[in-house]
Amino acid sequence: MKRILIIGAVGQIGSELTLRLREVYGAGNVVAGWRSTQPSRELAESGPLEKVDATDPERIVEVVKKYRIDTIFNLAALLSAVAEQKPQAAWNVGVNGVFNILEVARENGCAVFFPSSIGAFGPTTPLDNTPQDTIQRPGTMYGVTKVAGELLSDYYFKRFGVDTRGLRYPGIISNVTLPGGGTTDYAVEIYYAAIKEKKYTCPLKKGTFLDMMYMPDALDAAIQLMEADPARLIHRNAFNVTAMSFDPEIIYKAIKKCIPEMQLTYDVDPVKQGIAESWPNKMDDSAARQEWGWNPKWNLEAMTDDMLKVIGEKRKKGLI
Ligand code: SER
Repeated sequence: MKRILIIGAVGQIGSELTLRLREVYGAGNVVAGWRSTQPSRELAESGPLEKVDATDPERIVEVVKKYRIDTIFNLAALLSAVAEQKPQAAWNVGVNGVFNILEVARENGCAVFFPSSIGAFGPTTPLDNTPQDTIQRPGTMYGVTKVAGELLSDYYFKRFGVDTRGLRYPGIISNVTLPGGGTTDYAVEIYYAAIKEKKYTCPLKKGTFLDMMYMPDALDAAIQLMEADPARLIHRNAFNVTAMSFDPEIIYKAIKKCIPEMQLTYDVDPVKQGIAESWPNKMDDSAARQEWGWNPKWNLEAMTDDMLKVIGEKRKKGLI
């Protein structure tokens, strides 16, 4: 991994992964690919920037050739709840986009990172200790695209030798770029609400357990997997990775320890609730631990302290 292209560099994960990869691999070697949302100043000024759309393969080829890219991180996607409103667009980015990137990788000798998700599971999957290899019949368009992406990535490795690797991310909690339209977004929103209003109305029911992870662990996981010794990888694609599992009451109580006035009420969104109930309560990530040494550093308490500190500072500066 020497010359990297990130497609979706302005999104929730991309905006932080790009900066991190620039630190590790050299700013000039990491190209931020963006489509519609204007990149932040930090992203634009810290290294190369190119307009690239996952659904425009000719443009991807141009950028790959221009920078002699050897690794593509494909982070373009519509999250689960928004994908239910726009299933055609979700398919186009999440399946046609993945196919385009794999084809460009095949023709140009690139490795590809693909972020799958807890959304690749569904109501018939075992929801507790969800195994690495199990039933995957998701009921959402987001999940359909993620299963297709996992299968395509496996296919391109087996059939063409493309070095594809991927993770099944849980809900990612971060304080730089907001997620847009995901089922797990509540676990980010609750921290902003805690700082701004000291109260939050949750769209998921009490008792709805989901896997979650703090962004620094999510970035480490992607880099560690892409750097892993291929001889040790039995799965290559779509490793379950998780750092914690909680329901709205548990995250609320963790926040309340730091902000005693915090209040939580519920106004359940039936679409998000239905999606959340079809996703694992807690995944088994032992394959990732065994095959490439996955070992998250952040738990709920440490993450809560850090989130409240960083968001509190943003508030003081008038940024939120
Ligand atoms: N965070 C995603 C979502 O909620 C799941 O991968 O859509």
